[in-house]
Amino acid sequence: MPTPPSRGDHLWLPFTPNRHFRQSPRVLVSAKGMYFTTQDGQQVLDGISSLWCVGAGHNRAPINEAIKQQLDTLDYATAFQFGNDRAFELADMIVNLAPGDLNRVFFCTSGSEAADTSLKMALAYHRACGQGQRTVFIGRERGYHGVGFGGMSVGGISGNRKAFGAAMLPRVDHMAFIHDPLHHAYIEAELPQFSQDLLNELEQRILPLHDAGNVAAIIVEPVAGSAGWYIPPQGYLQRLRQICDKHGILLIFDEVITGLGRLGTPFASDYFGVVPDMINFAKCVTNGVVPMGGVICREGLYQAVTEQGGPAHAIEFMHGYTYSGHPVACAAAVATLQLMAQEGLFARAAQMGPVLGRAMHQSLKGLPHVVGIRSLGLAAAVELSPSQQGAGLRGYEVFQECLRRGVLVRSAGDNLVFAPPFIVEREQVEHMVATLADVIAGLPA
Ligand SMILES: Cc1ncc(COP(=O)(O)O)c(C=O)c1O
Repeated sequence: MPTPPSRGDHLWLPFTPNRHFRQSPRVLVSAKGMYFTTQDGQQVLDGISSLWCVGAGHNRAPINEAIKQQLDTLDYATAFQFGNDRAFELADMIVNLAPGDLNRVFFCTSGSEAADTSLKMALAYHRACGQGQRTVFIGRERGYHGVGFGGMSVGGISGNRKAFGAAMLPRVDHMAFIHDPLHHAYIEAELPQFSQDLLNELEQRILPLHDAGNVAAIIVEPVAGSAGWYIPPQGYLQRLRQICDKHGILLIFDEVITGLGRLGTPFASDYFGVVPDMINFAKCVTNGVVPMGGVICREGLYQAVTEQGGPAHAIEFMHGYTYSGHPVACAAAVATLQLMAQEGLFARAAQMGPVLGRAMHQSLKGLPHVVGIRSLGLAAAVELSPSQQGAGLRGYEVFQECLRRGVLVRSAGDNLVFAPPFIVEREQVEHMVATLADVIAGLPA
């Protein structure tokens, strides 16, 4: 007798209302190209690259093949005291894509680990330079840098922090968020021009308060992804770079979402023309198939930490993960980056971005409850006013109804976000946006 499908009674899901989920579990069993198949046999259009990861679309043969070959060759190798040929190859490929003199790659297995790695690198660098007092980190309100204690502390999404406040890093501050709902609620493929300089607060209040000479690093997402695709004003990232340079502060771009093609360029750093001291990456690097993340840092940072590392046998940076540079993850990433290059997928994201942006603005502006729409690169968000029964409820209901109609959209509070795989076709964009519009139009007043 065949085993009946599991009811999932023993699973505790991440970032999910588990009690509600249990009433009607959503279960995915296979995927191909732009579509999932659910346990009930329904086709679901993946409008969010499955958490921003699957840039090349699902179940791509060259990636699967590379993984299989790697398993038959070198399945796993200790990450400490050894390299592996795949990790070498991938580091070269990533550095070739990276801007400026970001020449060294440290591998980990997620965006959260990348965040904590970059913060630790900043501390190690300043200590190596004789500036061990630089221990303050500055993030931004509504920023997301994963769920480790470091990333959570510099992160600024209040719901992620409130239960864990007692364990937060002590010397952290946050800059103001980059949104002006009054004058720039609607942004289509451009950078808004704010009348006031958001970074005055950093220069005039935050840095003097902590003393700029105590600050190790400022970490931001170039475009705030998890909060709901919020776009920085013109000149913001350039000015942030200047302020960091002026005060000897390291600048970290968390490009876990914006890295590897989402804006049509290798990194958001290229899109905005600003070179940070470190770039964190994760999503899209293996097309989501095997967990992987990493930090790319400037050559000088690596040199400072390693040269001041004590005697030649001493480990200079006491940090790393059992699965740093895992050969199977690296093989998947090498194959992913090759596939992206062969199929010109960054350029395709650049091409399809305006199609998505236009469709969102055209179809959703003016619908009930819509209070903003923002698009840049191949991602776009529509913001709804919160329901009187609670913030996030309206977004969650729209997500569920879209799913019922076969379209996966991501709800981030009352934002609904699309960030499809770069292979998305125009008709699929139109279909997903039309479905979202229909669902929003049908919401109760
Ligand atoms: C900017 C950013 N940093 C870090 C993370 C955390 O990544 P992970 O979930 O792989 O730990 C995310 C995840 O969405 C992210 O968007």
